[in-house]
Amino acid sequence: MIHILVTDLDGQVHDIHGHEGDSLMELLREHEWGTPAVCGGLCSCGTCHVYIDVDWLDTFPPTESDEQDLLDVFSSTTGNSRLSCQLVLQASHDGLKLTIAPED
Ligand code: FES
Repeated sequence: MIHILVTDLDGQVHDIHGHEGDSLMELLREHEWGTPAVCGGLCSCGTCHVYIDVDWLDTFPPTESDEQDLLDVFSSTTGNSRLSCQLVLQASHDGLKLTIAPED
């Protein structure tokens, strides 16, 4: 089991869990405080935007062009922004920390 600490838009921290191979977006959209992920992972809406804790950023593959093109549109994008629909959990992500980004 992979534990993830998620800070929501109100600053509340939630301890959720997933398994290797799970889509991070799928885990987050199960929760009222999570991400709406409107397009369902097609990399076209950006409503799954999260800030990955900088210590964990390099544990994911770099952004591909379609993800980066979408992130570039948002004023809320920072250096640790990712679209959670593009991120797959690995066993090494146990303890991952991230924050839900505000809707742009
Ligand atoms: S769910 Fe729409 S871009 Fe990720």
